Formats: sequence, structure tokens, C-alpha cells
Amino acid sequence: MCGIVGYTGPNNSVGPIIEGLSRLEYRGYDSAGICLKVENELQIIKKEGKLDNLKELINLHKPFSHTGIGHTRWATHGAVTTDNAHPHGNEIFAVVHNGIIENATTLKKDLFHEGYQFKSQTDSEVFLVLLTKFFNEGNSTLISISKAFSSITGNSAFVILEKASDKLYAIKRSAPLVVGENREFREAYVSSDPFALVGFAPRIYFPEDGVICEGIVTGSEVTVNFYELDLTHSNRYKFQSNSMSVDATSKGPYEHYMLKEIYEQPALIDKLAAYYIKNEGRKILDEMKGFRAQEWHITACGTAWHAGLVIKNFLEQVNHQKASVDIASEFRYRHPILNHGDVGLFISQSGETADTLASQELCKEKGIPTFSIVNVEGSTLFRNADKNFLIHAGVEIGVASTKAFTLQALTGYLMGLAMKGSLDDSLHYSEIKLLSNRISDLCGQSDFIKDVAEQIYTKKGFIFTGRGKYFPIALEGALKLKEIAYVHAEGYAAGELKHGPIALIDEDIVNIALVGPELLEKTLSNVEEVKARRGIIVVVGPKNHPEVEQIADAYIPLDFNGLQNLSPLYVNVALQFLAYHIAKLKGTDIDKPRNLAKSVTVE
Ligand code: AGP
Repeated sequence: MCGIVGYTGPNNSVGPIIEGLSRLEYRGYDSAGICLKVENELQIIKKEGKLDNLKELINLHKPFSHTGIGHTRWATHGAVTTDNAHPHGNEIFAVVHNGIIENATTLKKDLFHEGYQFKSQTDSEVFLVLLTKFFNEGNSTLISISKAFSSITGNSAFVILEKASDKLYAIKRSAPLVVGENREFREAYVSSDPFALVGFAPRIYFPEDGVICEGIVTGSEVTVNFYELDLTHSNRYKFQSNSMSVDATSKGPYEHYMLKEIYEQPALIDKLAAYYIKNEGRKILDEMKGFRAQEWHITACGTAWHAGLVIKNFLEQVNHQKASVDIASEFRYRHPILNHGDVGLFISQSGETADTLASQELCKEKGIPTFSIVNVEGSTLFRNADKNFLIHAGVEIGVASTKAFTLQALTGYLMGLAMKGSLDDSLHYSEIKLLSNRISDLCGQSDFIKDVAEQIYTKKGFIFTGRGKYFPIALEGALKLKEIAYVHAEGYAAGELKHGPIALIDEDIVNIALVGPELLEKTLSNVEEVKARRGIIVVVGPKNHPEVEQIADAYIPLDFNGLQNLSPLYVNVALQFLAYHIAKLKGTDIDKPRNLAKSVTVE
């Protein structure tokens, strides 16, 4: 969602801010802006649309400033317009914001009655006006920030620039925020994502909620101060060295990040298995030996929720443990029954998804332990969990999650094997190796899947069907296709089709049927029902199967032999390729699909 980057130091702030914002583009946004302290003025340049629009304006003005803040906005309150783009500023302060001020309407009304004017329709400007009001009442900047922050409700991160100094201020509540330091070059940074600071700030700090951060650069040094809201010094922050490498974030020879990330999967699977079975991860898994939860409450959003559905199947079938799976935005409000002995298992690539975090909070309030399966070490989910299982996917830049799904599900599987005490079982190890080999083979067949995509990409709608362990994959396949190809796609349990959705079938609807070796006959009968109604059949199924060959208009043959539990992850990669090629034929923005954000930090 919204991206934030701030800089103060001896160099021109424009470079690192724009570079940082470019790196955050993948998260999704619809307008961008920058505020620079130029001489004694706060100069704001902003524009709706892509970051390139802002870059054009910057190239025109060629500004130089030692201190600045930048922002990419993903609209929540107020339309996508230049006025609503951030930063919002006046003659005293400029502010960028990520999140939602829930009591903005009430506050705005009060401030309006007190004579304050608003230039935008955003909730964010309310914070700016509050800040200004407290400052005009004679308070210092720090006190004004504290008072303004205490007046608002909702999850937010703010970065503030003031006309009177070259300091950077920041504060957050349940929203991502990181402060960076480069002691060698005497630079202070702030961002919503450490990724923006890679190569700039080797030292990074994660403040906790309600901690005011102050970045100061003097002639000889850079200092980052942390204060509580009563302005006493705070030690509620975590330090980390920023070990990410810039190389890890390049597209390499691939046309899109999504493609690169699909291709990375075989190697990452091998690495993850080695990490948890043979290397440092082993210790974490050994602690799980014999562990049983009375009930697992698996909670996540989007693709991570689908990974949760796969993990539920593992937990039930491999471990015989009870597991329920919820969409986080539902779990948090449905008053779930959480008992002593239960465990909350939260799955997230970013570790910053607002609903997932709120669900974790709920479990914590109810006193049940929370475990995470997460990619970003140091993320909020990671920091708040009692136990973390990192998926080690590296940075995932494509908005459409691919490698994270595979590694989340695999991590859940390894966790299950550890509980069962069968982590060293060579059968499982070879099953994982087989998975990475099969996915590798599939990567070699990408052109073949492209041919299938060519046959169907103009069709009106796509219904993905699967039974049992392939049902979550049907959901995930449909999500991937709709998010990057902008076509209507739904995932259904194959047996459910005749209970309604079959009414949609005609010669312009494609049924992507996931036909695994289990329940094969039953699944094929469901495919026959679609075929009888002139639907187009694409089967992702076992190779060399005459019955499947005969029924399918197009066929993606897979070698299921020996894969057992992990075959859903294999099938899913075929669907990742299919979605990718359909989207490419449609000419969409694959890595940054419209309306989407990589990390959804509002509920
Ligand atoms: C996946 O392709 C999506 N872009 C989206 O559904 C994503 O999985 C979801 O927003 C959850 O994100 P998280 O894993 O970072 O929590």
C-alpha cells in the first residue's frame, strides 16, 4: 500500500527518495509526491498516476534539498487526484501518511468549526491540521506530534517534516515503519519498508507503536532519538543491520518479477528443506517434536489464506490434528471460540497485513500462543509471534504472490513432519526433492503452457475446479488469473459446480479442471458435466492418461508419480505459468496489476 521514504543528510535528498519510492512501486499505488525543504520553504511536488509523472516534474524543476519526504499513495479516503496525493503541507509542516485515521470525519468537523481549512478529501490531512493547531497553541513540534497522534484512532504511520529544521520525525500505530542510519555518510532515513533503504542505510530501527522517532543530522554526526508520548526517552525499538542485498531485488534476465519468482521456486524449495532439516532451522523444528494443539486456528488473507487451506489438509491428514482456517478479516470480527491449548497460526508473506495482525492480536488477548509462517524477518507479525517459521523466499516483488505460497505451504508441511517426529524420514526428504525437480521440469515447459494460454485467453470467464487437496489450488489458480489478467475467474470444489455455478457454462467459459490421481474418476465426471454444456475444458492432470486426453480441449500433463502430499504445490506452479501467459497475452501490467497493493496495511 502507501510507500514512504524520507531522507536528511549532506546530499540531495531527491535521489534516495525517488529510488526508494521506485523500489516500493511494486506494493501498488495510484499517485506520488515529494516534499523538499528548499531554503526556508517546504516545497511540495505531487502528481496522480505513476511515479514517472512525478519524475517528469522533478526533472523539470531539478530541485536540490538536504531534507525531504516522499510518498506513493494507495487511495482510501478521497479519489485519486493530485490534491489528495501526499505529502500534505502548509507553511509549518508537511506530512505523509500510511493507514487510516478512523475518527477523521469527527475530527475534521471539529477542526472546521474552529476555522481550519482543508485542501484535500483525505483523512491524512486531518493529522497535518491537528499538528498545526497544537503547534499554533504554543507547543513544541515533539509535543504537537504527541498530541496529534493521541487524538487519532486507527492504524497509521506518519512521517513529518518541519519548516523550522532539517529533522525527520516519524510515529506509527500498527503500521510498518523503519528508521535508518548511515553513520559513514551522516544520513538519516525513514521508510515504510526496509527494502527502500537497502544500500542506503546499513543500520535500521523498528520503533514500536507510539514511539516518536527523530532523525537529526549535524555537521559531524547522525543521531536517531526515540521518545515516548510523554517525551521521556524510549527504548521501545529494535535494532537490526540491513543485510538485504540490492542484487536480490533485480529482475535478472526475466521480463517480469513474477516470472523470475516462479523460476526461483525449485532452488528455494531445496534451500528451505536443507535449512529446516539439516541446518540452523532444525533447532526450531526440533522444539516442535511431539507438539499437539487442541485446535489450530489458521488465519491469513488472499494467497496466504490458500496456503493455510493446504496446511490445514496437511495438519489433519499427516498429523491428525484439528485445524480451522479463516480469512483474517472475518476471524477478527466473528468472535471465534479460542480455548486453552489452541494455537493461532498466521501466514503472511509481508508480515504486515492489517487484518492478519489484528487477528494475531485477538489471539494474544485471549491468551493463546501465536505462531507465524512468514517471509519478512522483523515484520510486525514476526515480532509479535511466540514462534516464527520463516519461509526464506527472499524479497517477493511481483504483487501476485507465487514463491511465497509454495514456501508457506512447504514450511507448514515441514512443521507437521517435525511434530510427527518424521523429519529425518528419507521418504519425505525425497518427496521434497522430487517436488523441486518436477517444478524445474515444469519451468522447462513454460512455452507449452503458453500455447494453452493462446487457445483460451480471449474467453469470457474461467472456472477452476478441484477436489480434496486440489480445491485450495483451484482457489489460488483463479485468484492468480483474476489479479493479473483482469478476467473473471472463480475457484470451486469440483463437486459443487452442479449446485449453481454450472448455470454459467457455455462455449465462452473455460473450465480449468485440476485432475489429480486421487478421486480421478469422480473429478472427470464433473468435467463431463461441463463438457456436455459446451464449456471449454483445460485439464491439468496426470500425463499419459487416455481418458483425460480424450476429454480435454487442451491438456497440461503432469507427472504426479511419488509426489503424494506435495502434489498440490506442483499443480499450482502450472497455474502460475498459465496465469502469467494469459496476462501477458492480454498485455496487462503483470508485476503491478491495477488497484492492487503488495502489502495491505489497511483493513
Ligand atoms: C496474492 O497474489 C495477493 N496479492 C494477496 O492475496 C496476498 O496474498 C494477501 O494480500 C496477503 O498478503 P501477505 O501474505 O503479505 O499477508
